[in-house]
Amino acid sequence: MKNKVLVTREVFDETLDYLSQHFEVTSNQANARYTVDDLVARLQAADAAVISTSERIDEALLSRVPNLRAVCSASVGYNHIDLEACTRHGVMATNTPGVLTESVADMSICITLATLRRLGEGERMLRAGRWQGTHLKELLGYDLNHATVGIAGFGRIGQAIAKRLRGFDTTTLYTSRNRADAAAEQAAKARYVSKDELLRESDVIILILPYTPETHYFIGRAELDKMKPSAVLINMARGGIVDDTALAEALKARRIWAAGLDVYENEPRVNPALMELDNVVLSPHIASATGTTRRAMTMTAARNCVAALTTGNPPNLLNPEVKGRTKPA
Ligand code: DGY
Repeated sequence: MKNKVLVTREVFDETLDYLSQHFEVTSNQANARYTVDDLVARLQAADAAVISTSERIDEALLSRVPNLRAVCSASVGYNHIDLEACTRHGVMATNTPGVLTESVADMSICITLATLRRLGEGERMLRAGRWQGTHLKELLGYDLNHATVGIAGFGRIGQAIAKRLRGFDTTTLYTSRNRADAAAEQAAKARYVSKDELLRESDVIILILPYTPETHYFIGRAELDKMKPSAVLINMARGGIVDDTALAEALKARRIWAAGLDVYENEPRVNPALMELDNVVLSPHIASATGTTRRAMTMTAARNCVAALTTGNPPNLLNPEVKGRTKPA
């Protein structure tokens, strides 16, 4: 009998074709929003699931789905999966590192420029019929070229952002839990600094660090107070890394100049105080959203799923401690 796999969000035909060669597949091609109970009911009938960042895999859910053997997320971030709970329940968890690095780095530069150059504000003005021709003092922004840019988080994506910044002749600083090796610093032309120095010296701060209990509110009131009044904050990482309420207050009071956000606390809801502000560019968590990259992400998740159920050894296993505890096929 074939193993059963649930795909929780709409995916590409080739991903479904590939999974269907190995498994009996049920896919949410209509993109219905599952409640926790809906998800549990479907997972109770599944050996594995290909999921997105919208599905929370935690102790409460895992204790209700005893047959589940693997959760394969089409994302590099995995803060929506409780790895310790997965290990306790003998569930392999995987992600998709590497395949989205370049697209997320591109989008980080895109949102940075859109924020510095007030693109959203200009478009809103134009669409509302308020544009009256060139006005030499209207919609003045800041340059990215020759700015000091601080990157918080210097993994694959942070380093790819730094490489792109070389083309803008920026002074690039970075901070991270572990300092990168000299070759990586040299390739990115980036200088390691403390978090405090990064906050005080940067014209633009780009957040691209993983969300963990230690990075919860990495940027809160105290950090916002340390930034330059002309500073721009870009969050490409995860909601919860920034205190969105404190950010909205700082933007409103012009304690910092502007922000660009791709991620939010409590997605898909966005703090209403942010929605009212003109000096924030808001995008709906689309940093990896190119056709090529999303195809690569879903195929990587599918390959992890096939390997998990057939060999018990998926390439992007996040909880290797689970080995020896996995459930029999
Ligand atoms: C990731 O892969 O973690 C991204 O945030 C999803 O787009």
